[in-house]
Amino acid sequence: MFEVRSDPTASPAERYRVLGAALASLLEGEEDALANLANAAALLAQSLEAINWCGFYLLRGEELVLGPFQGKPACVRIPIGKGVCGAAARERATIVVPDVSRFPGHITCDPASRSEIVVPILEDGILRGVLDIDAPEVGRFDHEDLVGLEAFVATLTPRVAWGSL
Ligand code: SME
Repeated sequence: MFEVRSDPTASPAERYRVLGAALASLLEGEEDALANLANAAALLAQSLEAINWCGFYLLRGEELVLGPFQGKPACVRIPIGKGVCGAAARERATIVVPDVSRFPGHITCDPASRSEIVVPILEDGILRGVLDIDAPEVGRFDHEDLVGLEAFVATLTPRVAWGSL
């Protein structure tokens, strides 16, 4: 088993640096894309506090389709432009939603979710999918989470053979 020891006294930036290093170590030498995404989702679930869902939606044609995740069963297909995930995919930009009840078109999968962050996954300018993380409290994600999770996705992206999924 792979465990990350998170220092609760460390700054968010330092904790995300440790998380990125743990991801690189966890995926080292493994080329199976599905296994690497599954482990990345498990690592996030183990490392991030106060979240209730984390995982990947993968681009399949004109829609996002549920990929490896941790949490309750979720909606499977999200058209580009719909919900927070579809909006982040269309804009190719990270979206932080402090209160999902105030995001028009938010798609409810787990009713416990109150805030959300979605980071698009771009490989050499090609949209591959998104990383989606939900939290049961309003305002869970701030700018440091945005920076840290974009760095996490940047570490992950070259370690996954997206074309094989
Ligand atoms: N809330 C997302 C849907 C996915 S679930 O949160 C896992 C959205 O609005 O796109």
